[in-house]
Amino acid sequence: MRVIETIGGVREAVRAARREGGTVGLVPTMGALHAGHVSLIARSAAECSVTVVSIFVNPIQFTQAEDFERYPRTLEGDVVECRRAGASLVFAPSNQEMYPRPLTTFIEPGPVAEGLCGPFRPGHFRGVATVVAKLFHAVEPGRAYFGEKDAQQLAVIQTMVSDLNMAVEIVPVATVREADGLAMSSRNQRLGAAERKAAPVLYTGLQAALARLEAGEREARVVREAAQEALAREPLVRLEYLDVVDAGTMQPVERVTGPVRVAVAAWLGGVRLIDNVRFEAR
Ligand code: PAF
Repeated sequence: MRVIETIGGVREAVRAARREGGTVGLVPTMGALHAGHVSLIARSAAECSVTVVSIFVNPIQFTQAEDFERYPRTLEGDVVECRRAGASLVFAPSNQEMYPRPLTTFIEPGPVAEGLCGPFRPGHFRGVATVVAKLFHAVEPGRAYFGEKDAQQLAVIQTMVSDLNMAVEIVPVATVREADGLAMSSRNQRLGAAERKAAPVLYTGLQAALARLEAGEREARVVREAAQEALAREPLVRLEYLDVVDAGTMQPVERVTGPVRVAVAAWLGGVRLIDNVRFEAR
């Protein structure tokens, strides 16, 4: 498995594979890989002849410079994980390679990025969509794999690909959870012991909402309240938002009539966590 640092290098490597008739899969990451990433890589490796894992901590998607500075950078261990999970190559460009001069052209995601995390992380999804578009142009994958844990990010990318006729299939991959239900995230390692113990309550809350939906409840307010009640029992949780949204557009719904996500963001100490569950009304 090769580690390539330049756009020209990765382009050449995948073009050679494509000439031989292979499908190129891309798993975009910021490194600090965990079991959630491993499941994306393994899925791509099972479905594609070449799997590229990009590892790039993207400065333009961070709202706070400080968060960008302290984002974990664990390239050596990540490369080992990629090899173990079946990746064919790692694309690990520098900042200079991705942004040789200040960027003047951006992807503006529109309404799909305006709710949920949008108001709390201004410019975040614009930075995500822009870097993902750049990665798509560098790697030209036939398929790209994204975790459902970041449901709004997934919807932003799906909308961008559809709006701009990008020739890539977006493959959503189910959230991987710890045994106690906590969704895998590189942020989990920053939780203190008490916060880590409390964190699975996010999933407990979402399951309470899901139980209402599965029992036939269709009023979003009632569904939200079921989750809120569970979360209110944990004093360490500071809720940022909890909403029932259309699974495609990410717009809040009042009544559940199609596919929705119940999505939550909350702070535990100084760590912000997100999670969601999907439900489809029939
Ligand atoms: O989900 C992530 O790790 C990042 O937002 C992504 C998609 C790699 C873009 O930087």
